[in-house]
Amino acid sequence: MKENTYRAIGATTFLSPVPAVVVSCRGTQEGFDADNLITIAWAGVVNSDPPMLSVSVRPERHSYPQIVQSGEFIVNLIDKPLCKAADFCGVKSGRDVDKFAALGLDKRYVEGFSCAAIASAPAFACCKVEQQIHLGTHDMFIGRVHQVYVREDLFDEDGSLHLERAGLIAYAHGQYFPLRERPEGFFGYSVAREEVIRRRLIEPYKKPAPKKTPGKGRKA
Ligand SMILES: Cc1cc2nc3c(=O)[nH]c(=O)nc-3n(C[C@H](O)[C@H](O)[C@H](O)COP(=O)(O)O)c2cc1C
Repeated sequence: MKENTYRAIGATTFLSPVPAVVVSCRGTQEGFDADNLITIAWAGVVNSDPPMLSVSVRPERHSYPQIVQSGEFIVNLIDKPLCKAADFCGVKSGRDVDKFAALGLDKRYVEGFSCAAIASAPAFACCKVEQQIHLGTHDMFIGRVHQVYVREDLFDEDGSLHLERAGLIAYAHGQYFPLRERPEGFFGYSVAREEVIRRRLIEPYKKPAPKKTPGKGRKA
């Protein structure tokens, strides 16, 4: 077998893909107390129980003092229809632009939080800051998730959640990619029984057979 060769490209933040999320925030002090949105690629899950997410923000962002002042943020997951808006939120500052208004996005306020989520997002997680860690260029805010809201259309009638239908956006090497609807596998599929693979990976994604239409010149 031919052996791969590799090129050393230096010490970079090369983890890929990462989620591209849009984080809602709103400060408490004058000049910072309007709803704002910032796109974040340096976001992650950092604990299961209690559930905690992290977002890393540069101090020069308008969002930074907003999160510090309020001690809260909302992580909006991004799908294909929101992809361009997410890019906009990552190149324009809330210092100069009302991003909700500029993008025509509706706001969704939820109990216990002063900042507004994006009303069309597939899902959003509402977090209260537990820790702020200065790392260098960025400060990492570790937020405890208080509630997660998922758009109704992503549930089946039996209550099962189908996040794969959202076409969530992944970010890799400066580009946005909507995740394919059909999964390659599921947690534990490498060791799952054939019957489980069929039920979870093959049957739900079978395309219905095309309807037969009568051929040209033939009597129906
Ligand atoms: C795809 C993408 C990912 C980004 N990730 C981060 C990030 O993780 N942390 C950060 O501080 N800025 C990040 N930015 C830059 C901010 O989103 C951008 O500077 C934004 O305009 C800041 O808005 P604000 O000044 O209203 O806070 C990212 C931008 C893009 C387009």
